[in-house]
Amino acid sequence: MTKEKERKMFVGIVWNCAAELKFILTAILFLFSLITILQFMPIRFSTTCISVPSFDSVSVSISAINASTALPPPPPALENGVIKRAFNPFGSAAYNFILMSAYRGGINTFAVMGLASKPLHVYGKPSYLCQWIPNTNMHKPINVTGTKILPDWGYGRVYTVLVVNCTFPIPVSDGGKLLIHATTNGGGDSEFNSTDTFLALTESEKDFTNFISTFNKPPKYDFLYCGSSLYGNLSPQRVREWLAFHVRLFGVKSHFVIHDAGGVHEGVMAVLKPWIEKGYVTLEDIRDQERFDGYYHNQFLIVNDCLHKYRFQAKWMFFFDVDEFIFVPKKSTIKSVVDSLSDYTQFTIEQMPMSNKLCLEEDRGKSYRKWGFEKLVYKDVKRGIRRDRKYAVQPRNVIATGVHMSQNTVGKTTHKTEGRIKYFHYHGTIAEHREPCRQLVNATTITVDQIPYEVDSTMRDIAGTVKRFELKMIGSTLQKTRQ
Ligand SMILES: *[C@@H]1O[C@H](CO)[C@@H](O)[C@H](O)[C@H]1NC(C)=O
Ligand SMILES: *[C@@H]1O[C@H](CO)[C@@H](O)[C@H](O)[C@H]1NC(C)=O
Ligand SMILES: *[C@@H]1O[C@H](CO)[C@@H](O)[C@H](O)[C@H]1NC(C)=O
Ligand SMILES: *[C@@H]1O[C@H](CO)[C@@H](O)[C@H](O)[C@H]1NC(C)=O
Ligand SMILES: *[C@@H]1O[C@H](CO)[C@@H](O)[C@H](O)[C@H]1NC(C)=O
Repeated sequence: MTKEKERKMFVGIVWNCAAELKFILTAILFLFSLITILQFMPIRFSTTCISVPSFDSVSVSISAINASTALPPPPPALENGVIKRAFNPFGSAAYNFILMSAYRGGINTFAVMGLASKPLHVYGKPSYLCQWIPNTNMHKPINVTGTKILPDWGYGRVYTVLVVNCTFPIPVSDGGKLLIHATTNGGGDSEFNSTDTFLALTESEKDFTNFISTFNKPPKYDFLYCGSSLYGNLSPQRVREWLAFHVRLFGVKSHFVIHDAGGVHEGVMAVLKPWIEKGYVTLEDIRDQERFDGYYHNQFLIVNDCLHKYRFQAKWMFFFDVDEFIFVPKKSTIKSVVDSLSDYTQFTIEQMPMSNKLCLEEDRGKSYRKWGFEKLVYKDVKRGIRRDRKYAVQPRNVIATGVHMSQNTVGKTTHKTEGRIKYFHYHGTIAEHREPCRQLVNATTITVDQIPYEVDSTMRDIAGTVKRFELKMIGSTLQKTRQ
């Protein structure tokens, strides 16, 4: 029935257009025949009776046929003996705002995540007006100026990451709509102060009740991992090892949010699947962000979405990569470590860089059967190098976040975590499908390419426990995983 209607409508449109097209074509034909005839007429006749259509009017009629064809710029005009030049803009190269998400963060506050034109932010002063329109007529719509947060340290490219914080002076409750009016303030074209209005969030009364109940309850998880954009041809075996290791470390009240920017192919999916089924992993497909040229697959946007999406569901949130392994000394647990740091909103974690090719001579012939963190035992002990850190936060006190730390927090940050927590970094192993052991060494220290290495068997020593844990949790389904 509806299909039939649709078809009829479609046919109707074609018919109507066809009628117009016919008319236009006839008109053009007539015009051209007229020109042809006029050529052969005596000049006297043409000037007195009919005015010959000029080139201009012909071009106008053509542009009327195709409205999207722009007119050529007018020729330079002479004004008081000065040649007045024109500048003719066509199109627009970067969007004003690309919305990813918006979340409520309290009774009167919201965070809106997106990408915005970077030059507009670097050289202009765009502004954002937040408007709340309640679902019921009992309350009036209310406006407030949005606070701009640019969390990507100037790393953006065509686009920069933008978090707009909308905090209203009074509670906005019981559902409604959040509109953002994004104004260029003359950035891009000083003649125009253009505003784009978009709907950032629609909230039902039930959504609001659900939010309040989550907000008031203690968080569901102790630990939530926000992974940044996963990209490239990842090794399923390395991802398998990483997951088993961290599910064991973080325990039953933990959750892992993995973002697929193109890195989760069939093999990787197979190692995620048992953990997804157990409820430990959530996979989000963010491949569409690739259309918009930002910094490293828009990872700053992704981590901010994750922060605000899960802000009230986790006591602690961790931000690090899948070639990095968090470690706490034997006498402690991850729980005891974060408890000792609970006065802080944020703590950073020092890095222990590991060789991605040196292995032990005793593993010769059997290294392919060993796990990555089991066989790559040489740590880089070069001194005086500033190394990246990773971090964890109590998300309720965080307003926007980064990749190596968050700079928009309420409360204290500490970097003094040495001896309590660190991470082993196996750089360049995650997208490698060949056997990582390239050089087998029978020595506790060695210098390769001017970098001094020392054996550190900390991770090797817990490999057995992690393997048994995986077997106990998900059975033997992953035993045949490819490198
Ligand atoms: C109209 O112009 C656009 C842009 O130049 C072009 O892509 C399109 O094919 C044109 N349409 C017609 C009907 O000529
Ligand atoms: C917005 O900023 C205010 C003030 O810094 C903060 O209290 C609030 O939690 C923020 N809102 C969100 C949703 O992050
Ligand atoms: C809020 O802002 C919108 C958009 O500029 C405007 O139309 C509306 O009148 C404003 N409302 C109030 C209450 O100021
Ligand atoms: C542009 O318009 C906005 C909203 O109407 C206004 O607040 C702002 O002052 C204007 N900016 C300029 C440069 O005119
Ligand atoms: C390592 O070297 C020592 C002494 O040089 C030797 O006794 C031992 O057999 C070697 N180990 C391996 C696995 O080659």
